[in-house]
Amino acid sequence: NAPMMKFYNGNEVPSFGLGTWKSKPGEVTQAVKDAIDIGYRHIDCAHVYGNEKEVGAALKAKIDEGVVKRQDLFITNLGLEYLDLYLIHWPMAYKEGGGLFPQNADNTPALSNADYVDTWKAMEALVSKGLAKNIGVSNFNSEQIDRLLKNCTIKPVTNQIECHPYLTQKKLSEFCIQKGILITAYSPLGSPDRPWAKPDDPKLLEDQKLGELAKKYNKTPAQVLIRYQLDRGHVVIPKSVTKSRIAQNSEVFDFKLSPEDIAYIDTFDCNGRICPMLGPGLRPNEPTILEDPKITAM
Ligand code: A2P
Repeated sequence: NAPMMKFYNGNEVPSFGLGTWKSKPGEVTQAVKDAIDIGYRHIDCAHVYGNEKEVGAALKAKIDEGVVKRQDLFITNLGLEYLDLYLIHWPMAYKEGGGLFPQNADNTPALSNADYVDTWKAMEALVSKGLAKNIGVSNFNSEQIDRLLKNCTIKPVTNQIECHPYLTQKKLSEFCIQKGILITAYSPLGSPDRPWAKPDDPKLLEDQKLGELAKKYNKTPAQVLIRYQLDRGHVVIPKSVTKSRIAQNSEVFDFKLSPEDIAYIDTFDCNGRICPMLGPGLRPNEPTILEDPKITAM
């Protein structure tokens, strides 16, 4: 089992969990069951991943089988009696209705003027009701976090952001950690299965310099990428639906990267953002939601 990290409120989070973004409904139930059998106790889910029912089926099966108890699991964003962590998925709000990603007539995202500070107040109420043990945010930049901190009663425990050697997020990580907010790193392996990957996009897992480092540590590139997050004090949630990889990704607690090697990996940064809807992406000149005046004006 992964070592625990502590939120500022004293609650603990397993430093390592299973990501489920891009896991197909038909494969995620088995993947979550395998992960729990292997020892994973932290599962990251989201409504927009379109597979929560299937994740829930795996949790129920493993709890019913007696393999784990609910209190030993740490679940982000899923309809259970309570959540260990509930996140605002991103700072912008979509218009209600019209599916998960409603669009305007010109195919741009159909956003509403809902303010994440108001959403946060509703999240705080969930904590008072016992429905969420911890609340946090995702895909927030430092300005948005700053504004939230000025307007909240309960501070977010984490900011879950895209983070990997091609987008090291040094400034945002330092900012959040200094405010007592843990970073949770998503896409730590560079999400090679992102639906919009182009053949000539750089492939992090195949990076030659990373490969050389992995050889030096006698580990796989994926394991070095996961360790890179842990050694920076980040919680990390690599996604896999392959049992051998789910196991491999958890075998990262018997080594550490040297500070020199972490600094070396930091130099791989190339602003290589994978989730372009949330900021400048791999593809230049692409309009992004965060450049939408409605968002930046907040
Ligand atoms: P799969 O799910 O088919 O096993 P990220 O966590 O950055 O989003 O990356 C997830 C992607 O990385 C998936 O395509 C997943 O494949 C793949 N992956 C997960 N673990 C490993 C690993 N240990 N080695 C190579 N690829 C991996």
